[in-house]
Amino acid sequence: MSRFMKARVAAVDQISSSVRRLTLVPIDGAPSFTPFSPGSHIVLGIPGEGRVCRNAYSLISPPDDTSHYCIAVRRQPVSRGGSEAIHSRVQVGDELELSPPSNLFLPHWQARHHLMLAGGIGITPFLSYLPELARRGASWELHLRSQDLDAARFPEAAPYLASGNITQHRLERPNLQALLARQPLGTHVYICGPQAMIDAVHAAAASLNWSLSRIHHEVFAAPMPGTPFTAVARNSEVEVEVGAEESLLEALERSGVETTSLCRGGVCGQCRVELLEGEAEHRDGFLNEQERASQCCVMPCVSRARSARLVLDL
Ligand code: FES
Repeated sequence: MSRFMKARVAAVDQISSSVRRLTLVPIDGAPSFTPFSPGSHIVLGIPGEGRVCRNAYSLISPPDDTSHYCIAVRRQPVSRGGSEAIHSRVQVGDELELSPPSNLFLPHWQARHHLMLAGGIGITPFLSYLPELARRGASWELHLRSQDLDAARFPEAAPYLASGNITQHRLERPNLQALLARQPLGTHVYICGPQAMIDAVHAAAASLNWSLSRIHHEVFAAPMPGTPFTAVARNSEVEVEVGAEESLLEALERSGVETTSLCRGGVCGQCRVELLEGEAEHRDGFLNEQERASQCCVMPCVSRARSARLVLDL
């Protein structure tokens, strides 16, 4: 995986009981990281037992400061090892591998107003929006729905707290209908949070006859564990056992099979591969019902197998 580079953990901060913030700095003499755009993410490789767990995390540090990258990681109740390792093992001085930044969640700069809706750790992509929105003098507001995560605990949010544009919703859910109804014409809405929250915003927008082209979302899904199976990359003549805790994509990478990926969460479609034999258990949010039913392809970043073997056109 030559596109991955090494970085050193320079600081670990506990933001809440379940969220840790990591500061990563370049090593090997590199003075700075690659520049990135607001809403970008990196893929972080976290060494586990006999494998590297790779997950995508939003960059939360200011995009114009490439001296370091910051990410925030929530401890997942069901973890394949990545978030658990970050919360229990990763320390200052550790070296981790990371990918260059990619962006699937860029703000729409032509918007007259930017309405950001975050559920819990879903605040992370918006933290890199704020400096650029402020620099452009854009109109914006951010709503965070979380019982235990406080926006004020993020140093990245600190310069913007006094603006009054950040609202914390602790026990009560925001009244989405009322919130959308009072938005000026030309508002774009960005959602990052659980699927139920994304669905609720879409429903409220539809009831107000909003154009869906003004609603954008990012899902922070990670692959879930499952039953082990065998994957065969037919063209590469590689057969690999996919463990319970690793994704099919990670197993293929471990075996040196050439793959492409971007979100690693089943939404971007980059990793799509033709399925030649076997039955996939689709867990992505990209394929349509027809593609799922036909078992023509699979998304290795999140999907697993219902059969003992999957044969891939790789
Ligand atoms: S990498 Fe995005 S869907 Fe698999």
